[in-house]
Amino acid sequence: MIRIEGVGHAFGEAGNPRRVVALESTTFEVARGELLCLIGPSGCGKSTLLNVIGGLATPSTGRVTIDGQAVKGPSPQKVAFVFQDNTLFPWRTVIDNVKLGMVYQGVPKSEHDDRARESLQAVGLMEFADHYPAQLSGGMKQRAQLARALGLRTEILLMDEPFAALDEQTRMVLGEDLSVLLAKTGKTIVFVTHSLVEAVFLADRVAVLTARPGKIKTIINVDEGHPRKSDFMTSPKLGALRNELYELLHDEIRKTVR
Ligand SMILES: Nc1ncnc2c1ncn2[C@@H]1O[C@H](COP(=O)(O)OP(=O)(O)OP(=O)(O)O)[C@@H](O)[C@H]1O
Ligand SMILES: [Mg+2]
Repeated sequence: MIRIEGVGHAFGEAGNPRRVVALESTTFEVARGELLCLIGPSGCGKSTLLNVIGGLATPSTGRVTIDGQAVKGPSPQKVAFVFQDNTLFPWRTVIDNVKLGMVYQGVPKSEHDDRARESLQAVGLMEFADHYPAQLSGGMKQRAQLARALGLRTEILLMDEPFAALDEQTRMVLGEDLSVLLAKTGKTIVFVTHSLVEAVFLADRVAVLTARPGKIKTIINVDEGHPRKSDFMTSPKLGALRNELYELLHDEIRKTVR
């Protein structure tokens, strides 16, 4: 469904001493209904890659296609983002934050309420629809942001370390819930994470990026159906894949942290 072909991205003009080549000849595909995790050292270009896929940045080389069509800019009908930081408007209630995404996407107003309730239900936040973001825990804020993205009913979700600011236990529960949602909705998801365990727990495949300039080092198959339950978290299979990822990443991380 998503094809990334020879994508490279540099910040700054050629010859500029501060030019940074973030990505280099990155090629891979994401199948419809797949959850692909991107993992790699800090600064290797994961967020840049996600922005390029979502049309928020134009690659310096190569191209991205979605269903065969070249991505030329943001396409809110097809792609929704969930970021790490809290991007909820503090002066709006949870349900109004969810509806706001629909305003920008041009969803007819008559549908806002039904859609917002459905997506709040899906993330287990219906009880807090009329609360303000400041009245929510960190995990609930991330659920609300996920609900806002779900309300857009896009086929593709791009998630940039959505659970990174949360404690490990909340994160595990949100991961389980995301796996359930994936099984139900069949969305295509590209998910950036630094957590090896989270990557294996969630992903159908994990793409390991090299140190900057980032490119695909290897792609690991997890080969496990969704929804995934807590028993997968403690399974030898998950442990073995996590160790494999650790081996692959360790050398790359050494190149960036001295
Ligand atoms: N707008 C920008 N202008 C200039 N350089 C940038 C910009 N955005 C990112 N970079 C540079 O591009 C490189 C890749 O950044 P990016 O944010 O994509 O990395 P990342 O893999 O997401 O890192 P992290 O894991 O820390 O989030 C970094 O060296 C960064 O300094
Ligand atoms: Mg990033």
